[in-house]
Amino acid sequence: AKPSSPGHYDLVEQAAEVEILPGLRTPIWGYGGQFPGPTIEARSGETTVVRLSNGLTQPTVLHLHGGHTPPESDGYPTDLVQPGARRDYTFPLRQRAATLWYHDHRMDYTGPQVWRGLAGFFLVRDPAEEALGLPAGERDIPLMICDRSFAEDGSMPYPGLPGKPGVREAYMGGVLGDVILVNGAPWPQLRVARARYRLRLLNASNARTYELALSSGGPMVRIASDGGLLAAPIAAKQVRLAPAERAEVIVDFGAYRIGDQIELRNLAGEGPQAKVMRFVVDRDEADDSTIPRVLSEVARLDPSKAAVTRDFDFNSGTMHGGGGWLINGNPFDPKRIEARPKLGDIEIWRLTSDVAHPVHLHLAQFQVLSVNGERPAGPPEWKDTVELRDAQTVEIITRFTGYRGRYVVHCHNLEHEDMAMMATFEVV
Ligand code: C2O
Ligand code: CU
Ligand code: CU
Repeated sequence: AKPSSPGHYDLVEQAAEVEILPGLRTPIWGYGGQFPGPTIEARSGETTVVRLSNGLTQPTVLHLHGGHTPPESDGYPTDLVQPGARRDYTFPLRQRAATLWYHDHRMDYTGPQVWRGLAGFFLVRDPAEEALGLPAGERDIPLMICDRSFAEDGSMPYPGLPGKPGVREAYMGGVLGDVILVNGAPWPQLRVARARYRLRLLNASNARTYELALSSGGPMVRIASDGGLLAAPIAAKQVRLAPAERAEVIVDFGAYRIGDQIELRNLAGEGPQAKVMRFVVDRDEADDSTIPRVLSEVARLDPSKAAVTRDFDFNSGTMHGGGGWLINGNPFDPKRIEARPKLGDIEIWRLTSDVAHPVHLHLAQFQVLSVNGERPAGPPEWKDTVELRDAQTVEIITRFTGYRGRYVVHCHNLEHEDMAMMATFEVV
C-alpha cells in the first residue's frame, strides 16, 4: 500500500467484487476493496497512523495483531467504528521487526467479518534485521494462507452467522473452507529464480491448522516467529501453523533445477485441502543473500522474577445450556476484568485446554515456558499466539510493558472467539 503521507495510511472498508475463481465474481468486504487488504510497511519506532473509514453496512473494529499498541488503538471488541464513520488508529511500534497483520475484531462478529475479507499484512522492519543480508525485495514474500468455501455463483457465504438458530452447535469446532487460498488466490503458482526466498507464512484461517511441507522433502529454514527473528535459524521439514500464527522461512530454490516444480503442501489436510501453492523454478539469477548463523538476541525471561502465576482455563462450559466457549468458566463480558497485571511486571500464565485452542494475547509478546511440564527444546522465541493442543497445559511468561489499560486474551479460532472465548485483562 502507498502511504497517503509519510507514516499515514488510509484504509477504506468497502464491499467489492473480485475474481477468485476463474470467471466468477466473489463479493467481499475488503480494506481498500481488496482481499487480502493492502500490505502496510512500517518501521520499528516510527509511529504509523491508519485512518480507517467504514464504508460497510456493519460496525467494524480494527486490530493490529502482534502490535504493541496503546489501548485506545488496540481495537477492543466493543470499540466500534460505525458505518460511515472514520477513526485514526495510532501505532507507535516500539517493538522489533516482525510480520504482523491487521484484521477485524468486532465482538461476536470477527469470524464472519474476517471470512468476508477483512485482513491484511502489516510488516514492521528495523535496521538490525536489514543488516543481516536475508533475502529482500522481490524475494521477501508475505503469504497469507486461509481457507474458504464457495457457492456455485462464486460467492463465499459464511455458514455460521450468529443469531441463526442451531448455528452455534453446528460450528462449535469453527468454520472450515474446502479451498485453500494464498493471498486470496486458490492454489496459486509462483515463478521463482534459483535463489533464496524469504517466505512470511501467516495462517489467517478462521479455524484451520496447517502442517506445511515442501513436496520435494527439502528443508525450510525457520528464521522468525510471531514476534520476529529467532535467535538462530532452524532447518525444518514441516512447519505447523495454528490460526493467527506466523512462521518465516527461507527456501533455497538454488538447490533445485530450472523446470522443477515444488509444491507447498498441507500435511494436515486431505485431497484439495492438502494443496497450498506451487513454486516453479524458471531462471538463474545472482543471489547475494545469506542466512547468518546468529539472527538476533532473544533473552530468556526468568520465571523466578515472575510477580504472579495466573490460571486461564479454556473450556467449553455448558454444552447443554446452548453451548459456548469459556475462559475460567466465563463467557466474554466487556464489563468483567479477569486479571490486572501491573505495568512492568513479569507474569506466568498457565493455560489449560479441553480441546485445541490457539490462544492469543494482545499487547504482550511472550515465551513458552513449558508444555505439559516440559521445557520446549531450543532457545526461547517471541510469540503472540500459542496453540494449546487437546488437554494440554502450556505455561507462558511475559512482561507487561508500555501501556496501561484494557486488552483481551482470547482463542483465535474465530468461531470460538465469537462464541465468547475471550477475557479482558487490564494493565494497571
Ligand atoms: Cu488476531 Cu485479538 O486478534
Ligand atoms: Cu491480536
Ligand atoms: Cu478455541
